[in-house]
Order: sequence, then C-alpha cells, then structure tokens
Amino acid sequence: MQLDSYDQALLNGESGETKQKMMEILVSLGKIYNAERLIEVKSVQVSGASYKTIGDTGLEWLSSLSGKTVVPSYLNPIGMPRDGWEELGIPKDFAQKQLEVNAAYAKLGIRLSCTCTPYYYTLIERGDHLAWSESSAVVYANSVLGARTNREGGPSALAAALTGKTPEYGMHIVKNRLPQIDFVLSEPEAAKSWTPAEYGALGIIAGAVAGDKIPLFKGIRPKSSMLKSMGAAMAASGAVPLFHVEDITPEARFPFFKKHFEEDEREEIVIENSEIAELFSDLEPDSVAVGCPHVSTEELSELAALLEGKKVKLPFYVFAAADSMKGNEELYKIIAASGAKIVHDTCMIVSPLLEGQTVMTNSGKAFTYLPGMCKAIPRLGTIADCVKVGCGL
Ligand code: F3S
Repeated sequence: MQLDSYDQALLNGESGETKQKMMEILVSLGKIYNAERLIEVKSVQVSGASYKTIGDTGLEWLSSLSGKTVVPSYLNPIGMPRDGWEELGIPKDFAQKQLEVNAAYAKLGIRLSCTCTPYYYTLIERGDHLAWSESSAVVYANSVLGARTNREGGPSALAAALTGKTPEYGMHIVKNRLPQIDFVLSEPEAAKSWTPAEYGALGIIAGAVAGDKIPLFKGIRPKSSMLKSMGAAMAASGAVPLFHVEDITPEARFPFFKKHFEEDEREEIVIENSEIAELFSDLEPDSVAVGCPHVSTEELSELAALLEGKKVKLPFYVFAAADSMKGNEELYKIIAASGAKIVHDTCMIVSPLLEGQTVMTNSGKAFTYLPGMCKAIPRLGTIADCVKVGCGL
C-alpha cells in the first residue's frame, strides 16, 4: 500500500503514540482489503458511543487515547440524554459510566452531537469521501446523498477522525457501487400511498434477502424520509451499505450507472405486498417510540400536526438530535404540550429506556433490533397510527 509522507510520519510515531496506533489500524485495514492508498475524508461519524454497547473494555480503551481530531467528527447516539437523564430514570451507575465515555470522546475533539442523522446538520455532497460508522447513516450517505463511505467500526472511525484518512476500498470505489440484486413489488402502484413505515417494512424484507449485496429497486418513487426508513431497515435486517432506486437516488441518474442497470444481469426478487402488510400488527403496546433514525424537521412537523391538541395516554418518546431543536422551537412546544417526550442524544435501542416492554414504533430498523437489543416486543405502525394508539384513540 502506498503511503504519503503525512501517513508515514504518523506511522513513525512523529505525532505521538495514539496517532501512530491509529495509523497502524488504518494500514492494517487497508492491507486486509487490498487498498492501494489512504484517502482524505471530509467528516467522520463515530459509533461505539453508548456505554450499553461498549462496556468497561471500550471505556478503558478510549480513556487510554490522546491527541485531537483533524476533521469534523460526530458521535453516534449515546446511552442517555446529556441533559435531563435523571428525569427519565436512567440508573445512576450507568449514567456515571456514560458521562466518562462522553468525556473521553470530547477530550479527543469528537463533537458530542450524538446523532445517527449527522447529514441533517452538515453539508454532504455527492462524491464526498466520509468515514461514518452507524449503519443507517452510512446507507443514507451512500444512497440518498451519493457520498462514499464504508461502514466503519468504532476504532477505524476514530482512527479516521484522528488522522483524516481512510483506506480506499469498498464503497469508495465507483465500480463497487453497482447493484447486485433487483427488487420489484408485486403491486408497485400500491406504494404510491405508502408512508415511511411501509417503506421500513419493505426494507426489513429486502435487507434480509440482500444481505450485504447492493439492491436496485424498480417501480417505486419514495421521498427522502421513505428512503431513510427503507435504508435503515435494510442495514439492520441485512448489512446493506448502499441501494439504488431507479430514477430517484443520485447515482441512478448517471449514465454510467444507468447503463449497468440496463445491461448487467442480476437476480430479480419480487416482494409480495402482502408480506409487507403482515409485518403490521395490533399488539397492545406499553409505550410508543419514534425517531429511529433520529427525526428530521419534516418528521417533527408531521408529529406536531398529529399531536396538536391531544394528550398522550402511553409513554411516548421522540428520539432526536439535540441540534434539531434549533429553529423548531414551536414544533417542540406543541409536541411537549401533548405529554410526548422529545429525548436527545440517545435512542430507543442504545438506551435502557424501553427494556422488556412492548413498543409501538414506525421504524423498520427499531422493529428489527428491539427484540435482540432491548428484549422488547415490537409493533410496527405508521406515524399516524403511533399517535392514535399513544393517545388512546
Ligand atoms: Fe439511530 Fe438508534 Fe435507530 S442509532 S438508527 S435511532 S437504532
């Protein structure tokens, strides 16, 4: 692998022991994947942020590091909100550990933005190279924004943050971004009235079939909130890093990709609309949770419109980036007046909030992860249904 003088200096330990270790991580990764060189990244998103997922071993490792990030670097959701965790009943010993994790990241210069939707708060353009690690953020960046990122592990993302580099392989190389499996719906017309929840259900089914292959969807016209929901679910039920939707996603509009879409031979899978309908149930939930991935301004507006003048009867959580408050204060007020809680920095999966409950959600990703990660029983519903059930209507 070719290293430039900057890479070599870091590898020689000229910028300290931590950066040397970080460069060793990147070089080893590059060798495993036959990368020819390291490339510069525009931003980094670091996962492994919740004490619930990294435990004492991760905390110890983080605390042993020194040095500062050299590119804008964001943190994934942590195990609790940074403010007001006491009111949510987060156990004190868990909170103490989480605060130590936060401090370790902050010391390294990682911004405690704590969100899986950093794309709403930073400008990402088609073709940008990134080193992001949360699976829904990765699939959104690659598919909806046309940026290029592999799904980094916690250590390799941190290494990219501290060096500004990542090995050039996988999703960074255009020829690896071509579709490998096609999906069509048995009744594509019906998808015209779908909400993000149905697209999440489609993602659950398609992801389980695709595994880590790159899907191409034909005959549907999802909007960005639907693409977000579908991608997050595919990255959870499978390991999909990128998908294309004919005529919709940015790369799908480029002649190079279009040509391959038309000329390459691929397996085509037909998903029956009835399979999607079967994922919706009428279980009685203990609580309602939306915001997986974290809500956008558009989703906050929708929620505010649905909740205005109503009162929730069940615990109702809206997971959001703290940055989402800016400019949305009115929407926040309306949602809070209903009794629903907007919770920052964390989420229904990485916090201990919903452990063991029956949870209604509009997220295909949460639906997939709630049983294993929270020992919870999930119910999938549209955002309108979540509000209806949450308000006892
Ligand atoms: Fe984000 Fe947590 Fe869902 S990190 S995508 S809200 S599982």
